[in-house]
Amino acid sequence: MNITAQIKQPIQSEMELFEKKFYESMSSQVALLNRITYYIVNRKGKQMRPMFVFLTAKMLSGGTVNERTYRGASVIELIHTATLVHDDVVDDSNRRRGFFSINALWKNKIAVLVGDYLLSKGLLLSIDHGDFDLLRIISVAVREMSEGELLQIEKARRLDIVESVYYDIIRKKTATLIASCCALGARSVVDNDDEVENMRHFGELIGMAFQIKDDLFDYTDDAIGKPTGIDIKEQKMTLPLIYTLNNCSKDEKSWLINSIKNHNKDKKRIKEVIALVKNKNGLAYAEQKMLDFQLQALALLEKYPDSDYKKALILMVNYVIERKI
Ligand code: IPE
Ligand code: IPE
Ligand code: MG
Ligand code: MG
Repeated sequence: MNITAQIKQPIQSEMELFEKKFYESMSSQVALLNRITYYIVNRKGKQMRPMFVFLTAKMLSGGTVNERTYRGASVIELIHTATLVHDDVVDDSNRRRGFFSINALWKNKIAVLVGDYLLSKGLLLSIDHGDFDLLRIISVAVREMSEGELLQIEKARRLDIVESVYYDIIRKKTATLIASCCALGARSVVDNDDEVENMRHFGELIGMAFQIKDDLFDYTDDAIGKPTGIDIKEQKMTLPLIYTLNNCSKDEKSWLINSIKNHNKDKKRIKEVIALVKNKNGLAYAEQKMLDFQLQALALLEKYPDSDYKKALILMVNYVIERKI
């Protein structure tokens, strides 16, 4: 059995029911919207966020989930999908999950509106059922994701980003939502603030590792279902590049900055930038940091008794850094 099948095994029936509920949660009276959401659910992603919700809930409850857990998983996946639809507009990216992105097929105007629609459907799902404790967790994540994407743009313009700011960006744009999965999974089954906080922290750490992995993908030629080499093109400063800028000669640094500022659409030049980053151990450094976050995340699981759910959660942590897409 492969690793994802192993992870899914203890939450199989939950994931099946989730998919049905998730699709229903998007429905609209507007035919155009239904066509687009149909396109979206047929090209589903890895669904790691709902998996985190269910695994956390089942580990803490000893195996039972409830309607709040399902709604939480749907809300998070709706918001995640909304941010991807918007992100591809922001990043001017034409591929997602191995197919055309929404903006590539329907143009930016429609993609922006569809993202807004999915976001509002997510928030309403919580409101309509009075899940206000979960709504608070989610709303913080939505705010932080917007701040993270804007902070990233602000820093990209100035090219003077330091490592701590990079961590701040990825914590906001990615880790907070994964933290919310675990917090919300926990909150749906237990009423203990410390327990919820421990799982939120676990999710945040694994979310950091997750985004470093995503940023490392950008330096490869791998078929990951979305474009690679796009971060440099968009002047997005990620950890491998930040490390290299701070650990190279003065001449190399000016060449790098000039490349990113003035030649970022030149494919050959981008290849040379990537080669320099590799050569200066920028990738190896980022990998090490990713492993540090992984170990910190695993340490937070130690206090829980062994169970199939905990085992799957540990596998999930390892999958985040070993995944191929
Ligand atoms: C992509 O997330 C966006 C990031 C935060 C890097 P995923 O890699 O989880 O996307 P899907 O849902 O599997 O496509
Ligand atoms: C992650 O940023 C997207 C969000 C958290 C909204 P990226 O721009 O790096 O994600 P990909 O690589 O396009 O999936
Ligand atoms: Mg992007
Ligand atoms: Mg990326």
